[in-house]
Amino acid sequence: MDPVKLMKQEVGQAAAAKVTSGSIVGLGTGSTTAFAIQFIGERLASGQLTDIKGIPTSFQASVLAKQHGIPLTTLDEVDRIDIAIDGADEVDPQHNLIKGGGAAHTREKVVDSLADQFIVVVDNSKLVDVLGSTFPLPVEVLPMAVAPVTRALQALGGQPELRLGVRKDGPVITDQGNMILDVKFNAISDPAALEKTLNNIPGVLENGLFVGVADVVLVGEVQGDSATV
Ligand code: 5RP
Repeated sequence: MDPVKLMKQEVGQAAAAKVTSGSIVGLGTGSTTAFAIQFIGERLASGQLTDIKGIPTSFQASVLAKQHGIPLTTLDEVDRIDIAIDGADEVDPQHNLIKGGGAAHTREKVVDSLADQFIVVVDNSKLVDVLGSTFPLPVEVLPMAVAPVTRALQALGGQPELRLGVRKDGPVITDQGNMILDVKFNAISDPAALEKTLNNIPGVLENGLFVGVADVVLVGEVQGDSATV
């Protein structure tokens, strides 16, 4: 198997192994978390894990969970999330994150923040000294507010770009029916302050800065043809 895929599989498996019977589990979005969802399903099917319910962070996560036989619930039905597993696009030394590469950060922030334990699954290419150095910050915006929010982000020193779909013939639309501005800030020196400032701009639903939310970061590394966590 392709070593990068193998590494994502190993990290996903390590995270899935931390889920215990009877838990409410936040199910993140992305290619690494997809492996965690697969392994949770396999543990359920083998009887190693019983009585768990998943709360998906996106349409993609709910489709995968159903495929792998994970029963789902909603935040209307439960009053706690025991553990959440999710990927990230950048992780700083304090375990603050940039998320939203899959345009799911708004729901992800709700679910991941509520979890008693939030486990982040990444490969070592996602580790950075300062957030914003490699990945533009995703900001979910109401479609009617894209123009004023773009100007507000430029006034803050960012370079926003509307995220386009794979065929580049239209914008990406989130699960909530909104659009994404990817904002290049170069280096984000105070992620906690920027997170609040951005969410104060009228028309912004949520931004991809997750400050002080992650409890554990599992990092995968490719080593030749194999992978370690
Ligand atoms: C989705 C996310 C993803 O978790 C993030 O983009 C990482 O994905 P991958 O594991 O595919 O690299 O934040 O909104």
